[in-house]
Amino acid sequence: MSLPSHVRLVEVGPRDGLQNEAQPISVDDKVRLVDALSAAGLGYIEVGSFVSPKWVPQMAGSSEVFARIQRKPGVTYGALAPNLRGFEDAMAAGVKEVAVFAAASEAFSQRNINCSISESLERFAPIMASAKQHGITVRGYVSCVLGCPYEGQIAPEQVAAVARELYAMGCYEVSLGDTIGTGTAGATRRMFEVVGAQVPRDKLAGHFHDTYGQAIANVYASLQEGIQVFDSSIAGLGGCPYAKGASGNVATEDVLYLLNGLGIETGIDLDQLLLAGQQICTVLGRPTGSRVAKARSGG
Ligand code: HMG
Ligand code: MG
Repeated sequence: MSLPSHVRLVEVGPRDGLQNEAQPISVDDKVRLVDALSAAGLGYIEVGSFVSPKWVPQMAGSSEVFARIQRKPGVTYGALAPNLRGFEDAMAAGVKEVAVFAAASEAFSQRNINCSISESLERFAPIMASAKQHGITVRGYVSCVLGCPYEGQIAPEQVAAVARELYAMGCYEVSLGDTIGTGTAGATRRMFEVVGAQVPRDKLAGHFHDTYGQAIANVYASLQEGIQVFDSSIAGLGGCPYAKGASGNVATEDVLYLLNGLGIETGIDLDQLLLAGQQICTVLGRPTGSRVAKARSGG
């Protein structure tokens, strides 16, 4: 299969990146990050989560962040919603696109959202109904698609079954998450072959964490499978609080460098993106997780 000419990047740094940070990050700093990302040309930014603050304290200020970002026309500003309560809070904050999240692993589903996979899908049904009524679009996530911190190997058929349910209930796109970053290029291709038989490939996205340093290879393997949407995180921030040891998502700067090299269009400016990355790393007091950013800053 030839590579796509255009790819859409979904920036998940302000949500997937920051949700795992123990140190308090001010609303001002979160707003500055989101605005810097839209200035860099990203067309989709996941801004926060409407989850229980007892479960993920860092996302507690998401309404305020939404109230203060500068919404650039044409940019989608999304948020996670685990249940109807979260969805309603998101709507009250003016969110026009939400993401629901399920898992391909029962054990991870229990640890992450305190219910079974089928219970989670039942919880999403009223969200889908209300979203349709209010003209809100819904994206779906499946976690642990290439391995689970509690169950180990996950069969691609199990991923396909959950992805198909999310698509059938009205998610316009389903993002497949290698939550713990153990996947390799071969496993990625096989997973997309199996899931792609159940859900159209142009409705699937890849979401790779870089724990084992495989994420860029997995993005390339996905491109070869015809996947054209990838989630990534500025400066490689992140991890999941319910997947111990999982490191950040693949860095947006590194994915963009790969895509630029392949002549694939994204509409994103690398220099502006590097600035956004520098800014948040200064806030966090940590070096960047992006190899490209490291190389460009001389070290
Ligand atoms: P629960 O404890 O089973 O829920 O949590 P509950 O309905 O029994 O409610 C317990 C308390 O939470 C109550 O408050 C509710 O009001 C409150 P209390 O009476 O104790 O004061 N509550 C809420 N508060 C705010 N917002 C809400 C909400 N719902 C209930 N929406 C629940 C169930 C789903 C809420 C919880 O497990 C939760 O919030 N989990 C979120 C976990 C999370 O955010 N994980 C990270 C995101 S997933 C991820 O990172 C993977 C991804 O990146 C893809 C990949 O990498 O694979 C997407
Ligand atoms: Mg993730």
